[in-house]
Amino acid sequence: MNRQTKADILRAGIAAPSADNSQPWRFAWSGDDLDLRIDASRSGLVSDTRFVLSDLAAGACLENLIVQGRSLGYAADLQTFPQHDDELWVARIRWRHDPECDQVEPLAGAIQQRHTDRRFPWGGPVTSDTQTRLNTQALQIPGPRLYWPQTPPERKAALKVIRQAETLRFRSPTLHAELFSSIRFAVGWHSVCEEGLAPATLAVEPPMRPLFQMLRRPAMMSMLNRLGAASVLGWRSAWLPIRLSPGLCLLVIPSKARADVLAGGRALQRVWLEATLDGLSVQPYAAAGVLGLGFVSIEPAFQGALSRLGSALCELCESGYGLVFLRLGYARSAPSDRSGRRAPASFGDFP
Ligand SMILES: Cc1cc2nc3c(=O)[nH]c(=O)nc-3n(C[C@H](O)[C@H](O)[C@H](O)COP(=O)(O)O)c2cc1C
Repeated sequence: MNRQTKADILRAGIAAPSADNSQPWRFAWSGDDLDLRIDASRSGLVSDTRFVLSDLAAGACLENLIVQGRSLGYAADLQTFPQHDDELWVARIRWRHDPECDQVEPLAGAIQQRHTDRRFPWGGPVTSDTQTRLNTQALQIPGPRLYWPQTPPERKAALKVIRQAETLRFRSPTLHAELFSSIRFAVGWHSVCEEGLAPATLAVEPPMRPLFQMLRRPAMMSMLNRLGAASVLGWRSAWLPIRLSPGLCLLVIPSKARADVLAGGRALQRVWLEATLDGLSVQPYAAAGVLGLGFVSIEPAFQGALSRLGSALCELCESGYGLVFLRLGYARSAPSDRSGRRAPASFGDFP
């Protein structure tokens, strides 16, 4: 494998999504073998207990690497979690030149276009043909599947659980601190940044921006929470945009095992790339599923709310664990601001 091919593959990996744009990946080459590791300095916050968010991001990155490799004529022999006592080592990929891999891999064309869009409202519909295409991509990875709340009661139940989780992110001081620590207010409202969330990508309306920025102070958040601010924020950040979007689905995994979360990340990425090829906009909502898994420990007063999230999700998707909701629809234009990425050399062994 030449240097250019290795660099092209890694550039695809780096374009993957990650919670709060944390980009928690490290790469190391030994010959043509590529190791994907979780970056200890960019993982392990409270919502990332047991590396759930990092494993999802690692899965998405892994899928980009594999799809890009295939489009360049290389098949990937994959070993996941190769060493049990090294919890940061997610995968080793052994690349094999494969003459059958040299046809165009359609998903590869979407890797650099895919992005998160937090604006609304979006047009529709998300047709059953499109749903089938997205389902097919999810099922390419053994384990995960998509659940589509179809009937009004199902959609209502899904909206309720997402709103409750998003509200909790503003009510719990621990989750509030984590949420605001990822927002880079220092870059202002008109620029983007290479790591973390630029305010410009959050779709906060201009008149609301000064208030939103003030909410990062715990004392201010706690005072406004006495007036119901968290609930309004949960409504504005989740309930309203989802209500005004034609599509909603939930990524479901069969167990809480890390291998299944990683597979969930791979499936998430395939679905998102296919959605991008279809011209769909996507916003993930991960709080309900991740908090509902039961690994995260926050203030005792909110611990009951976490377990209720888990039960509500179990009821919704019948079997398995709902992990990430995806809001889908057709935006009139691409967002003008997209999250940036760090310089390739900062991910480790960049050829
Ligand atoms: C596991 C995971 C969880 C995410 N959770 C959310 C979320 O709850 N809300 C949201 O708006 N974006 C969420 N995102 C999107 C990320 O913030 C986004 O991927 C990152 O900022 C990079 O931006 P990009 O997708 O435009 O490349 C999530 C992404 C991943 C991979």
